[in-house]
Amino acid sequence: MSRDFQVSTNFLWGVATSASQVEGAWNEDGKGMSIADCLRYRPEIDVKNYKKVNDIDTQEIQKAIQDPESKNWAKRHGVDFYHHYKEDIEQLAEMGISAFRFSISWPRIFPNGDDEKPNQKGLEYYLNLVKELKKFGIEPVVTLSHYDMPLNLVLNYNAWYDREVVGFYERFTTTVIDYLKDYVKYWIPFNEIDSIIRHPFASAGLVRDRFVNKNFNEVIYQSMHHQFIAAAKVVEYCHHNYENMSVGSMITKTTVYPYNSDPRNVLKSLKQMREVYAFSDIQVRGFYPEFLLKKFEDENIALKSQKEDKKLLLDNTADFIAFSYYSSVCAAEDTEGLSVSLANTTSGVYNKFLPQTKWGWQVDPIGIRISLIELADRYNKPLFIVENGLGAEDKLTENQEVHDTYRIDYLAKHIYQVLTSMEEDGVQLLGYCTWGATDMISASTNQMSKRYGFIYVDLDDFGNGTYKRFKKDSYYWYRDLLNYGKQIP
Ligand code: BG6
Repeated sequence: MSRDFQVSTNFLWGVATSASQVEGAWNEDGKGMSIADCLRYRPEIDVKNYKKVNDIDTQEIQKAIQDPESKNWAKRHGVDFYHHYKEDIEQLAEMGISAFRFSISWPRIFPNGDDEKPNQKGLEYYLNLVKELKKFGIEPVVTLSHYDMPLNLVLNYNAWYDREVVGFYERFTTTVIDYLKDYVKYWIPFNEIDSIIRHPFASAGLVRDRFVNKNFNEVIYQSMHHQFIAAAKVVEYCHHNYENMSVGSMITKTTVYPYNSDPRNVLKSLKQMREVYAFSDIQVRGFYPEFLLKKFEDENIALKSQKEDKKLLLDNTADFIAFSYYSSVCAAEDTEGLSVSLANTTSGVYNKFLPQTKWGWQVDPIGIRISLIELADRYNKPLFIVENGLGAEDKLTENQEVHDTYRIDYLAKHIYQVLTSMEEDGVQLLGYCTWGATDMISASTNQMSKRYGFIYVDLDDFGNGTYKRFKKDSYYWYRDLLNYGKQIP
Protein backbone atom coordinates (compact mmCIF):
# COMPACT_ATOMS: atom_id res chain seq x y z
CA MET A 1 0.00 0.00 0.00
CA SER A 2 1.51 3.27 -1.01
CA ARG A 3 0.11 6.34 -2.59
CA ASP A 4 1.33 9.74 -3.67
CA PHE A 5 0.02 12.49 -1.55
CA GLN A 6 -1.72 14.87 -3.92
CA VAL A 7 -4.94 16.73 -3.28
CA SER A 8 -6.17 20.16 -4.28
CA THR A 9 -4.66 23.05 -2.39
CA ASN A 10 -8.14 24.01 -1.14
CA PHE A 11 -8.54 20.69 0.61
CA LEU A 12 -8.75 21.17 4.38
CA TRP A 13 -6.43 18.97 6.39
CA GLY A 14 -7.21 19.39 10.02
CA VAL A 15 -7.86 18.24 13.52
CA ALA A 16 -11.04 18.31 15.60
CA THR A 17 -12.02 18.93 19.21
CA SER A 18 -15.04 19.90 21.28
CA ALA A 19 -15.33 22.53 24.02
CA SER A 20 -16.40 20.26 26.87
CA GLN A 21 -13.67 17.75 26.15
CA VAL A 22 -10.75 20.18 25.97
CA GLU A 23 -11.48 23.59 27.44
CA GLY A 24 -11.83 23.07 31.17
CA ALA A 25 -12.32 26.40 33.01
CA TRP A 26 -15.86 25.19 33.63
CA ASN A 27 -16.78 27.98 36.02
CA GLU A 28 -14.42 30.74 34.91
CA ASP A 29 -15.13 34.09 33.29
CA GLY A 30 -18.88 33.77 33.70
CA LYS A 31 -19.39 30.31 32.20
CA GLY A 32 -22.48 28.49 33.45
CA MET A 33 -22.73 24.80 34.27
CA SER A 34 -23.33 22.47 31.33
CA ILE A 35 -24.68 18.94 31.06
CA ALA A 36 -21.12 17.77 30.34
CA ASP A 37 -20.03 19.09 33.74
CA CYS A 38 -22.27 16.43 35.33
CA LEU A 39 -20.57 13.44 33.73
CA ARG A 40 -17.79 11.47 35.35
CA TYR A 41 -15.60 8.47 34.72
CA ARG A 42 -17.00 5.42 36.54
CA PRO A 43 -14.16 2.87 36.95
CA GLU A 44 -16.62 0.30 38.31
CA ILE A 45 -18.50 0.24 34.98
CA ASP A 46 -17.14 -1.64 31.96
CA VAL A 47 -15.82 0.91 29.46
CA LYS A 48 -17.89 -0.81 26.77
CA ASN A 49 -21.04 0.11 28.66
CA TYR A 50 -21.06 3.81 27.80
CA LYS A 51 -24.85 4.03 28.25
CA LYS A 52 -24.64 3.37 31.97
CA VAL A 53 -22.08 6.15 32.32
CA ASN A 54 -23.92 8.78 30.35
CA ASP A 55 -27.62 8.10 30.76
CA ILE A 56 -27.70 9.80 34.15
CA ASP A 57 -30.66 10.58 36.39
CA THR A 58 -31.73 13.56 38.48
CA GLN A 59 -29.97 12.21 41.56
CA GLU A 60 -26.63 12.09 39.73
CA ILE A 61 -27.17 15.64 38.45
CA GLN A 62 -27.82 16.84 42.01
CA LYS A 63 -24.68 15.07 43.17
CA ALA A 64 -22.71 16.89 40.49
CA ILE A 65 -24.19 20.27 41.42
CA GLN A 66 -23.31 19.75 45.07
CA ASP A 67 -19.72 18.80 44.32
CA PRO A 68 -17.97 21.81 42.78
CA GLU A 69 -14.49 20.91 44.07
CA SER A 70 -13.91 17.31 43.01
CA LYS A 71 -11.77 16.51 39.98
CA ASN A 72 -13.96 13.48 39.21
CA TRP A 73 -16.11 15.45 36.80
CA ALA A 74 -13.48 15.23 34.09
CA LYS A 75 -15.06 17.54 31.54
CA ARG A 76 -14.86 20.40 34.02
CA HIS A 77 -11.09 20.48 33.72
CA GLY A 78 -10.72 19.00 30.21
CA VAL A 79 -7.08 19.54 29.20
CA ASP A 80 -7.28 23.23 30.08
CA PHE A 81 -7.29 24.32 26.44
CA TYR A 82 -8.99 27.50 27.67
CA HIS A 83 -5.66 28.63 29.07
CA HIS A 84 -3.35 26.72 26.73
CA TYR A 85 -4.99 27.54 23.39
CA LYS A 86 -2.17 29.75 22.08
CA GLU A 87 0.51 27.19 22.84
CA ASP A 88 -1.62 24.36 21.39
CA ILE A 89 -2.49 26.21 18.21
CA GLU A 90 1.12 27.15 17.63
CA GLN A 91 2.16 23.51 17.83
CA LEU A 92 -0.69 22.43 15.57
CA ALA A 93 0.19 25.16 13.08
CA GLU A 94 3.76 23.87 13.02
CA MET A 95 2.30 20.48 12.19
CA GLY A 96 0.85 22.06 9.04
CA ILE A 97 -2.91 21.83 9.53
CA SER A 98 -5.16 24.03 7.42
CA ALA A 99 -8.37 23.50 9.44
CA PHE A 100 -9.24 23.36 13.11
CA ARG A 101 -12.65 22.11 14.17
CA PHE A 102 -13.80 23.21 17.60
CA SER A 103 -17.12 23.86 19.29
CA ILE A 104 -18.56 26.82 21.11
CA SER A 105 -19.58 26.14 24.69
CA TRP A 106 -23.17 27.39 24.82
CA PRO A 107 -23.05 28.11 28.61
CA ARG A 108 -19.87 30.14 28.11
CA ILE A 109 -21.94 32.54 25.98
CA PHE A 110 -25.33 32.21 27.69
CA PRO A 111 -24.53 30.78 31.15
CA ASN A 112 -28.13 29.77 31.87
CA GLY A 113 -29.28 29.41 28.30
CA ASP A 114 -32.25 31.71 28.86
CA ASP A 115 -30.25 34.87 29.65
CA GLU A 116 -31.22 38.06 27.83
CA LYS A 117 -27.64 39.17 27.18
CA PRO A 118 -24.54 37.17 26.24
CA ASN A 119 -21.47 36.84 28.42
CA GLN A 120 -18.98 39.19 26.76
CA LYS A 121 -15.95 37.35 28.12
CA GLY A 122 -17.10 34.15 26.46
CA LEU A 123 -17.54 35.87 23.10
CA GLU A 124 -14.12 37.47 23.38
CA TYR A 125 -12.51 34.14 24.12
CA TYR A 126 -13.79 32.64 20.87
CA LEU A 127 -12.94 35.76 18.91
CA ASN A 128 -9.36 35.54 20.17
CA LEU A 129 -9.30 31.86 19.34
CA VAL A 130 -10.36 32.34 15.71
CA LYS A 131 -7.98 35.27 15.33
CA GLU A 132 -5.18 33.05 16.56
CA LEU A 133 -6.14 30.39 14.01
CA LYS A 134 -6.28 32.94 11.20
CA LYS A 135 -2.85 34.25 12.20
CA PHE A 136 -1.50 30.86 11.09
CA GLY A 137 -3.77 30.61 8.05
CA ILE A 138 -5.93 27.93 9.65
CA GLU A 139 -9.62 27.71 8.68
CA PRO A 140 -11.96 27.44 11.68
CA VAL A 141 -14.73 24.84 11.37
CA VAL A 142 -17.22 25.62 14.12
CA THR A 143 -19.71 23.27 15.76
CA LEU A 144 -22.36 25.30 17.53
CA SER A 145 -23.51 22.60 19.89
CA HIS A 146 -21.40 19.60 20.85
CA TYR A 147 -22.87 17.81 23.87
CA ASP A 148 -22.78 20.70 26.34
CA MET A 149 -26.06 22.60 26.62
CA PRO A 150 -26.57 24.81 29.69
CA LEU A 151 -27.75 22.69 32.64
CA ASN A 152 -30.35 25.29 33.55
CA LEU A 153 -32.26 24.41 30.37
CA VAL A 154 -32.48 20.82 31.61
CA LEU A 155 -33.62 21.72 35.10
CA ASN A 156 -36.10 24.43 34.20
CA TYR A 157 -37.24 23.63 30.66
CA ASN A 158 -36.79 19.87 30.07
CA ALA A 159 -34.04 20.54 27.55
CA TRP A 160 -34.73 20.00 23.85
CA TYR A 161 -38.18 18.57 24.57
CA ASP A 162 -39.34 22.11 25.21
CA ARG A 163 -39.94 24.20 22.08
CA GLU A 164 -38.85 27.34 23.92
CA VAL A 165 -35.30 25.99 23.84
CA VAL A 166 -35.31 26.43 20.04
CA GLY A 167 -35.63 30.18 20.66
CA PHE A 168 -32.81 30.19 23.22
CA TYR A 169 -30.58 28.27 20.80
CA GLU A 170 -31.47 30.74 18.07
CA ARG A 171 -30.41 33.64 20.28
CA PHE A 172 -27.16 31.84 21.11
CA THR A 173 -26.31 30.87 17.52
CA THR A 174 -27.15 34.19 15.90
CA THR A 175 -25.09 36.01 18.55
CA VAL A 176 -22.08 33.80 17.87
CA ILE A 177 -22.44 33.88 14.09
CA ASP A 178 -22.62 37.68 14.09
CA TYR A 179 -19.67 37.98 16.43
CA LEU A 180 -17.40 35.65 14.46
CA LYS A 181 -18.73 36.49 10.99
CA ASP A 182 -15.47 37.90 9.66
CA TYR A 183 -13.53 34.78 10.52
CA VAL A 184 -15.77 31.74 10.17
CA LYS A 185 -17.19 30.25 7.00
CA TYR A 186 -18.04 26.64 8.00
CA TRP A 187 -20.73 26.04 10.64
CA ILE A 188 -22.16 22.80 12.01
CA PRO A 189 -25.30 23.39 14.13
CA PHE A 190 -25.18 20.06 15.99
CA ASN A 191 -22.49 17.48 16.49
CA GLU A 192 -23.78 14.04 15.43
CA ILE A 193 -27.43 15.05 15.37
CA ASP A 194 -28.45 11.37 15.33
CA SER A 195 -26.80 10.74 18.71
CA ILE A 196 -29.92 11.86 20.58
CA ILE A 197 -31.28 8.37 19.90
CA ARG A 198 -28.36 6.61 21.57
CA HIS A 199 -27.44 8.92 24.42
CA PRO A 200 -30.37 11.25 25.09
CA PHE A 201 -28.83 12.95 28.13
CA ALA A 202 -25.24 13.45 26.99
CA SER A 203 -26.43 14.58 23.58
CA ALA A 204 -29.58 16.57 24.32
CA GLY A 205 -30.04 16.88 28.08
CA LEU A 206 -33.01 14.48 28.30
CA VAL A 207 -33.25 12.95 31.77
CA ARG A 208 -35.39 9.82 31.74
CA ASP A 209 -36.87 10.24 35.24
CA ARG A 210 -38.23 13.68 34.39
CA PHE A 211 -40.60 12.05 31.89
CA VAL A 212 -42.01 9.13 33.89
CA ASN A 213 -45.55 9.59 32.61
CA LYS A 214 -44.53 9.94 29.00
CA ASN A 215 -43.41 7.62 26.24
CA PHE A 216 -39.67 8.32 26.36
CA ASN A 217 -39.24 7.50 22.67
CA GLU A 218 -41.78 10.18 21.87
CA VAL A 219 -39.81 12.58 24.07
CA ILE A 220 -36.64 11.78 22.10
CA TYR A 221 -38.27 12.22 18.69
CA GLN A 222 -40.01 15.43 19.75
CA SER A 223 -36.64 16.79 20.88
CA MET A 224 -35.08 15.62 17.64
CA HIS A 225 -37.73 17.59 15.74
CA HIS A 226 -36.84 20.69 17.72
CA GLN A 227 -33.17 20.23 16.87
CA PHE A 228 -34.02 19.97 13.17
CA ILE A 229 -35.98 23.22 13.39
CA ALA A 230 -33.13 24.87 15.28
CA ALA A 231 -30.56 23.69 12.72
CA ALA A 232 -32.72 24.85 9.79
CA LYS A 233 -32.90 28.28 11.43
CA VAL A 234 -29.09 28.42 11.45
CA VAL A 235 -29.06 27.65 7.73
CA GLU A 236 -31.71 30.31 7.11
CA TYR A 237 -29.84 32.89 9.18
CA CYS A 238 -26.46 32.28 7.54
CA HIS A 239 -27.87 32.21 4.00
CA HIS A 240 -29.96 35.35 4.45
CA ASN A 241 -27.36 37.44 6.21
CA TYR A 242 -23.99 36.36 4.90
CA GLU A 243 -22.81 35.50 1.42
CA ASN A 244 -20.01 33.14 2.05
CA MET A 245 -21.21 30.88 4.85
CA SER A 246 -21.73 27.16 4.52
CA VAL A 247 -23.76 25.11 6.99
CA GLY A 248 -23.45 21.35 7.37
CA SER A 249 -25.49 18.46 8.62
CA MET A 250 -23.40 16.17 10.78
CA ILE A 251 -24.00 12.50 11.50
CA THR A 252 -22.21 9.65 13.22
CA LYS A 253 -21.35 7.58 10.19
CA THR A 254 -21.27 4.07 11.49
CA THR A 255 -21.29 1.51 8.76
CA VAL A 256 -23.42 -1.55 9.33
CA TYR A 257 -22.63 -4.63 7.28
CA PRO A 258 -24.80 -7.72 7.06
CA TYR A 259 -23.13 -10.44 9.14
CA ASN A 260 -23.27 -12.71 6.09
CA SER A 261 -25.27 -13.03 2.88
CA ASP A 262 -28.40 -14.29 4.62
CA PRO A 263 -30.99 -11.87 3.17
CA ARG A 264 -32.49 -11.41 6.63
CA ASN A 265 -29.17 -9.99 7.81
CA VAL A 266 -28.88 -7.82 4.71
CA LEU A 267 -32.32 -6.41 5.44
CA LYS A 268 -31.45 -5.83 9.06
CA SER A 269 -28.27 -3.91 8.20
CA LEU A 270 -30.19 -1.82 5.67
CA LYS A 271 -32.81 -0.95 8.27
CA GLN A 272 -30.17 -0.02 10.83
CA MET A 273 -28.40 2.26 8.36
CA ARG A 274 -31.69 3.89 7.45
CA GLU A 275 -32.17 4.94 11.06
CA VAL A 276 -28.96 6.99 10.88
CA TYR A 277 -29.52 8.25 7.36
CA ALA A 278 -32.95 9.51 8.39
CA PHE A 279 -31.15 12.32 10.18
CA SER A 280 -29.04 13.47 7.26
CA ASP A 281 -31.97 12.81 4.88
CA ILE A 282 -34.11 15.31 6.78
CA GLN A 283 -31.36 17.93 6.82
CA VAL A 284 -30.27 17.42 3.24
CA ARG A 285 -33.62 16.74 1.56
CA GLY A 286 -35.77 18.85 3.84
CA PHE A 287 -38.50 16.39 4.80
CA TYR A 288 -39.09 13.33 6.97
CA PRO A 289 -38.66 9.96 5.20
CA GLU A 290 -41.82 7.92 4.81
CA PHE A 291 -40.50 5.01 6.91
CA LEU A 292 -39.97 7.30 9.90
CA LEU A 293 -43.51 8.69 9.67
CA LYS A 294 -44.75 5.12 9.51
CA LYS A 295 -42.67 4.23 12.57
CA PHE A 296 -44.21 7.16 14.48
CA GLU A 297 -47.67 5.92 13.53
CA ASP A 298 -46.91 2.32 14.56
CA GLU A 299 -45.39 3.35 17.88
CA ASN A 300 -48.05 5.96 18.72
CA ILE A 301 -45.57 8.76 18.55
CA ALA A 302 -47.35 12.03 17.84
CA LEU A 303 -44.95 14.89 17.20
CA LYS A 304 -46.11 18.41 17.86
CA SER A 305 -45.06 20.83 15.17
CA GLN A 306 -45.90 24.34 14.07
CA LYS A 307 -47.39 25.09 10.68
CA GLU A 308 -44.26 26.79 9.35
CA ASP A 309 -41.99 23.83 10.24
CA LYS A 310 -42.41 21.90 6.99
CA LYS A 311 -41.50 24.87 4.83
CA LEU A 312 -38.63 25.87 7.08
CA LEU A 313 -37.06 22.41 6.75
CA LEU A 314 -37.63 22.27 3.01
CA ASP A 315 -36.26 25.76 2.32
CA ASN A 316 -33.20 25.46 4.51
CA THR A 317 -31.30 22.32 3.71
CA ALA A 318 -27.65 21.69 4.53
CA ASP A 319 -24.85 22.81 2.22
CA PHE A 320 -22.56 19.89 3.03
CA ILE A 321 -22.65 16.61 4.90
CA ALA A 322 -20.13 16.30 7.67
CA PHE A 323 -19.57 13.03 9.43
CA SER A 324 -17.48 11.23 12.01
CA TYR A 325 -16.15 7.81 11.17
CA TYR A 326 -14.37 5.45 13.53
CA SER A 327 -15.58 1.95 12.98
CA SER A 328 -18.13 -0.48 11.58
CA VAL A 329 -20.30 -3.27 12.96
CA CYS A 330 -22.35 -6.15 11.59
CA ALA A 331 -26.06 -6.85 11.87
CA ALA A 332 -27.51 -10.32 12.35
CA GLU A 333 -31.02 -11.56 13.02
CA ASP A 334 -29.87 -14.54 15.10
CA THR A 335 -27.24 -13.30 17.50
CA GLU A 336 -26.98 -16.36 19.69
CA GLY A 337 -23.34 -17.35 20.10
CA LEU A 338 -22.09 -14.22 18.32
CA SER A 339 -20.07 -11.71 20.29
CA VAL A 340 -20.85 -8.06 20.44
CA SER A 341 -18.70 -5.24 19.11
CA LEU A 342 -19.08 -1.48 19.14
CA ALA A 343 -18.72 1.22 16.55
CA ASN A 344 -18.65 4.43 18.48
CA THR A 345 -21.93 4.37 20.43
CA THR A 346 -23.63 1.83 18.17
CA SER A 347 -23.40 -1.83 18.98
CA GLY A 348 -23.59 -4.81 16.67
CA VAL A 349 -22.13 -8.17 15.96
CA TYR A 350 -18.37 -8.80 15.91
CA ASN A 351 -16.78 -8.91 12.47
CA LYS A 352 -14.12 -11.62 12.38
CA PHE A 353 -12.19 -9.84 9.62
CA LEU A 354 -11.40 -6.82 11.76
CA PRO A 355 -9.27 -6.13 14.85
CA GLN A 356 -10.81 -4.27 17.75
CA THR A 357 -9.59 -1.83 20.39
CA LYS A 358 -9.77 -2.21 24.15
CA TRP A 359 -13.04 -0.28 23.99
CA GLY A 360 -14.51 -2.81 21.57
CA TRP A 361 -14.43 -0.52 18.51
CA GLN A 362 -13.49 -2.47 15.39
CA VAL A 363 -10.88 -0.96 13.11
CA ASP A 364 -12.07 -0.86 9.50
CA PRO A 365 -10.25 1.50 7.10
CA ILE A 366 -12.18 0.32 4.03
CA GLY A 367 -15.35 1.26 5.89
CA ILE A 368 -14.46 4.94 5.54
CA ARG A 369 -14.35 4.56 1.76
CA ILE A 370 -17.64 2.66 1.81
CA SER A 371 -19.09 5.53 3.85
CA LEU A 372 -17.86 8.12 1.39
CA ILE A 373 -19.36 6.26 -1.56
CA GLU A 374 -22.68 5.73 0.21
CA LEU A 375 -23.00 9.38 1.21
CA ALA A 376 -21.82 10.74 -2.15
CA ASP A 377 -24.31 8.59 -4.06
CA ARG A 378 -27.14 9.37 -1.69
CA TYR A 379 -26.80 13.14 -1.59
CA ASN A 380 -24.58 14.34 -4.43
CA LYS A 381 -23.32 17.16 -2.21
CA PRO A 382 -19.91 17.99 -0.75
CA LEU A 383 -18.83 15.79 2.13
CA PHE A 384 -16.54 16.61 5.03
CA ILE A 385 -14.88 14.03 7.29
CA VAL A 386 -14.82 15.98 10.54
CA GLU A 387 -13.69 13.18 12.87
CA ASN A 388 -11.59 10.07 12.42
CA GLY A 389 -9.10 8.66 14.87
CA LEU A 390 -8.00 6.00 17.28
CA GLY A 391 -8.64 6.03 21.02
CA ALA A 392 -5.72 4.23 22.70
CA GLU A 393 -3.76 4.08 25.93
CA ASP A 394 -0.48 5.89 25.25
CA LYS A 395 2.60 5.70 27.42
CA LEU A 396 4.95 8.59 28.02
CA THR A 397 8.49 7.21 28.17
CA GLU A 398 11.24 8.39 30.49
CA ASN A 399 12.58 10.43 27.59
CA GLN A 400 9.19 12.09 27.33
CA GLU A 401 8.33 10.47 24.04
CA VAL A 402 5.18 8.64 22.93
CA HIS A 403 5.65 5.86 20.39
CA ASP A 404 2.10 5.59 19.06
CA THR A 405 2.82 3.52 15.97
CA TYR A 406 -0.68 1.99 16.22
CA ARG A 407 -2.20 5.47 15.71
CA ILE A 408 0.02 6.17 12.72
CA ASP A 409 -1.03 2.83 11.27
CA TYR A 410 -4.72 3.59 11.84
CA LEU A 411 -4.53 7.06 10.31
CA ALA A 412 -2.34 6.02 7.37
CA LYS A 413 -4.74 3.25 6.43
CA HIS A 414 -7.81 5.48 6.70
CA ILE A 415 -6.24 8.39 4.81
CA TYR A 416 -5.14 5.98 2.09
CA GLN A 417 -8.78 4.94 1.63
CA VAL A 418 -9.92 8.56 1.64
CA LEU A 419 -7.44 9.57 -1.06
CA THR A 420 -8.31 6.52 -3.13
CA SER A 421 -11.98 7.35 -2.88
CA MET A 422 -11.40 10.92 -4.01
CA GLU A 423 -9.42 9.69 -6.96
CA GLU A 424 -11.49 6.72 -8.02
CA ASP A 425 -15.03 7.13 -6.68
CA GLY A 426 -15.81 10.69 -7.75
CA VAL A 427 -16.33 11.77 -4.17
CA GLN A 428 -16.45 15.49 -3.53
CA LEU A 429 -14.67 16.04 -0.24
CA LEU A 430 -14.05 19.37 1.48
CA GLY A 431 -11.62 18.10 4.05
CA TYR A 432 -10.45 15.57 6.56
CA CYS A 433 -10.04 16.23 10.30
CA THR A 434 -8.58 13.78 12.74
CA TRP A 435 -10.07 13.38 16.19
CA GLY A 436 -8.34 15.07 18.06
CA ALA A 437 -5.48 17.53 18.36
CA THR A 438 -4.10 17.27 21.88
CA ASP A 439 -5.44 14.43 23.98
CA MET A 440 -8.80 15.15 25.58
CA ILE A 441 -11.51 13.65 27.76
CA SER A 442 -13.43 10.84 26.10
CA ALA A 443 -17.01 11.74 25.25
CA SER A 444 -18.47 8.32 25.99
CA THR A 445 -16.48 7.11 29.01
CA ASN A 446 -15.17 10.42 30.42
CA GLN A 447 -11.72 8.90 30.65
CA MET A 448 -8.49 10.74 30.02
CA SER A 449 -6.65 7.51 29.33
CA LYS A 450 -8.59 6.95 26.10
CA ARG A 451 -6.32 9.22 24.12
CA TYR A 452 -6.75 10.48 20.55
CA GLY A 453 -4.30 13.36 20.16
CA PHE A 454 -1.07 14.04 18.32
CA ILE A 455 0.03 15.82 21.48
CA TYR A 456 0.09 13.98 24.79
CA VAL A 457 -1.26 15.79 27.84
CA ASP A 458 0.06 14.77 31.25
CA LEU A 459 -3.17 14.04 33.10
CA ASP A 460 -4.85 10.92 34.45
CA ASP A 461 -8.46 9.74 34.68
CA PHE A 462 -8.98 11.58 37.95
CA GLY A 463 -7.58 14.96 37.00
CA ASN A 464 -4.09 14.47 38.44
CA GLY A 465 -1.16 15.71 36.39
CA THR A 466 0.77 18.74 35.21
CA TYR A 467 -1.18 19.46 31.99
CA LYS A 468 2.20 19.57 30.22
CA ARG A 469 2.15 18.80 26.50
CA PHE A 470 4.45 16.32 24.67
CA LYS A 471 4.50 15.64 20.95
CA LYS A 472 3.86 12.03 20.03
CA ASP A 473 5.44 10.15 17.10
CA SER A 474 2.13 10.58 15.26
CA TYR A 475 2.62 14.37 15.49
CA TYR A 476 5.79 14.14 13.42
CA TRP A 477 4.17 11.65 11.05
CA TYR A 478 1.15 13.92 10.32
CA ARG A 479 3.49 16.92 10.05
CA ASP A 480 5.62 15.17 7.44
CA LEU A 481 2.53 14.05 5.59
CA LEU A 482 1.07 17.56 5.44
CA ASN A 483 4.28 19.47 4.86
CA TYR A 484 6.30 17.24 2.62
CA GLY A 485 3.59 15.13 0.97
CA LYS A 486 5.29 11.94 2.05
CA GLN A 487 3.88 8.75 0.66
CA ILE A 488 1.36 6.81 2.68
CA PRO A 489 2.33 4.88 4.74
C1 BG6 B 1 -17.58 11.26 18.42
C2 BG6 B 1 -17.87 12.51 19.22
O1 BG6 B 1 -18.69 10.49 18.30
O2 BG6 B 1 -16.64 10.37 18.95
C3 BG6 B 1 -16.69 13.00 20.04
O3 BG6 B 1 -18.33 13.52 18.38
C4 BG6 B 1 -16.00 11.83 20.70
O4 BG6 B 1 -17.14 13.97 20.94
C5 BG6 B 1 -15.52 10.88 19.63
O5 BG6 B 1 -14.97 12.20 21.55
C6 BG6 B 1 -14.75 9.70 20.17
O6 BG6 B 1 -15.52 9.05 21.14
P1 BG6 B 1 -15.01 8.77 22.60
O7 BG6 B 1 -16.18 8.33 23.34
O8 BG6 B 1 -13.98 7.71 22.45
O9 BG6 B 1 -14.44 10.04 23.10
